[in-house]
Amino acid sequence: MSEAREAGVVRLKPGIFNTRRHYLIQLRKQIEKVLEQFVKPMKDQVQIADYGCGNMPYEPLVAPYTERYIGIDLSENPRAEIHIDPEGRIAMPDNQVDFVLSTQVLEHVENPIFYLEEALRILKPGGKLIISTHGYWMFHPDPTDYWRWTSTGLKKIITERGFEIKYFRGIIGRAATGLQLFQDGFLFKVPGAMRGLLAIIFQPLIFFFDKTTSQSSKDKDAGTFVIVAEKKTTS
Ligand SMILES: C[S@@+](CC[C@H](N)C(=O)[O-])C[C@H]1O[C@@H](n2cnc3c(N)ncnc32)[C@H](O)[C@@H]1O
Repeated sequence: MSEAREAGVVRLKPGIFNTRRHYLIQLRKQIEKVLEQFVKPMKDQVQIADYGCGNMPYEPLVAPYTERYIGIDLSENPRAEIHIDPEGRIAMPDNQVDFVLSTQVLEHVENPIFYLEEALRILKPGGKLIISTHGYWMFHPDPTDYWRWTSTGLKKIITERGFEIKYFRGIIGRAATGLQLFQDGFLFKVPGAMRGLLAIIFQPLIFFFDKTTSQSSKDKDAGTFVIVAEKKTTS
């Protein structure tokens, strides 16, 4: 298996030594949920663009429901079918795809407004953006890292671009995210071989504290937000 594919598998099925285990499991569950709710009911020839696809970790989840999966990324990603140009434009006509999937990309793009406008442009009217991005999280460049969102800020930037929000969930509440950041405070201070030990100590605690936080609290304050937003038919 290639390194990139292996990294994708780790994101889908993080083991007990993974210092992102709880977050990655929650994110996968949320993506499965929105695919089931919004993509599965569409029977005909669904096209989905994975915008900022990286090593395409969620392609196996999307594949059963789609006719065509299109990976889009910066020119340095050889796995992407379409590369964005230096201005950030996607080489694709308007109104092409039924869904745009964007997992953990928005915080990395230099111009998030233009990024969302491009997503809107390539979506068919009534098409949907499925997007996840960070609330509170540590700095993690890929290749850069610019933004963190509050729930209201994220809703504002998405709706102001011409989307209507259909689904909004916070995952990893305040206490759990605080513990995740506490764990990450030690992450680069210990030798690589010992990081698994940190995961074994912290990840069950993060799981426990996350369980004790209500969904309404997470929808305001969270480590990651998952949103489904529809392109208004008048756009
Ligand atoms: C943290 S990775 C996420 C990759 C993948 N979506 C995932 O969930 O594993 C961030 C991705 O955003 C891409 N990216 C950064 N700036 C971008 C931009 N302006 N337009 C599209 N993709 C961008 C990076 O190349 C990288 O693949």
